[in-house]
Amino acid sequence: MISDTHCGKGTLLLKDDPDGIIKAASIISKGGLVAFPTETVYGLGAAATNSRAVKKIYSAKGRPSDNPLIVHVADLCQLEQVAETVPKAAYRLAERFWPGPLSIILPKAGSISGLVSAGLATVAVRMPNHQVALALIKAAGVPIAAPSANRSGRPSPTSYRHVLEDLSGRIDAVIKSTPCQIGIESTVIDLTTNMPVILRPGGITGEEIASFLGCRVDYAQPGRNAPVPLSPGVKYRHYSPRATLILVSGPQSRRRPVIAALVKKYRKQGLKVGLLNAIMPGAADSDGNTFPEVWATHLYSSLREMDRRGMNLIIAEELESQGLGHAVMNRLKKAASRILRVT
Ligand code: TXA
Ligand code: MG
Repeated sequence: MISDTHCGKGTLLLKDDPDGIIKAASIISKGGLVAFPTETVYGLGAAATNSRAVKKIYSAKGRPSDNPLIVHVADLCQLEQVAETVPKAAYRLAERFWPGPLSIILPKAGSISGLVSAGLATVAVRMPNHQVALALIKAAGVPIAAPSANRSGRPSPTSYRHVLEDLSGRIDAVIKSTPCQIGIESTVIDLTTNMPVILRPGGITGEEIASFLGCRVDYAQPGRNAPVPLSPGVKYRHYSPRATLILVSGPQSRRRPVIAALVKKYRKQGLKVGLLNAIMPGAADSDGNTFPEVWATHLYSSLREMDRRGMNLIIAEELESQGLGHAVMNRLKKAASRILRVT
């Protein structure tokens, strides 16, 4: 039986029904930590107004204290509590894309703990498109600060089982719900600069936002000599399985022989080698067309599955870097120990 029960190490497993949500909200109100589902990945939530609670998020995850969190809201009144000022562009984006996978950086209001934004004057806000998440935020009556509910550096969790793998015994509760549909994290856009800047790519692309707002949108790039702020999180290694991951990029016809040679070489050395593309059914067809939605949904669970199977080496092939594919490639590059470009 796994309902409203301890999962063995002191973490309560709650149902995603009204009773479970009330229990989860009461834990949040008392300053505890609850992992909850969203449409992107599971979040690890605490009351965004309670510094002691927010501090626990960083220690449960082992997260560097300079990497700020996203605040989750259930309505526009809460947006106005979280942000000091809300520009017109933010209301327009909220109306068009919320609830949904878009986090907007705005000037931070005083009521939100400084720990949420890691000392920055800005704060990231989003309204998740998930009934359980929205019901939890409403029942708690407070905006909820929540990073992805994984140990820092690990692939983000797309099911409650992944949350338990990483955080069992370190958090008060997890809400058991169905796997997250999108599977990778939200787009992060900064609206505090002259031109909006995409700090982290996601399912909602810069092009989509630019055409909707009718203005140019920039992409932050590490190392680029421009006065563009980077998301503090981008400097850390991310989304990584325990196994070494080699990402092979280049034309498909050239990749395949290289991959076959790599597999042969490392298997001969006695390593357990897994092909990421092979365990993601439906991620590509026989003509080599890739389906980024399928990749996004299964990427993190496949990386975790490879770890469970005890793989030493994972080989992944690039996919077309367009739309959601661009966001998936961003995560794959960060998860990779090595990127092998074949020409
Ligand atoms: O889909 C998502 O965004 C998920 C779900 C749970 O909502 N959350 C998530 O949170 O991915 P996390 O903490 O794993 O990623 C938050 C990202 C980090 O890259 C962080 O640096 C950036 O947002 N961020 C947060 N606040 C920021 C700020 N004030 N300025 C710049 N970047 C910020
Ligand atoms: Mg994360």
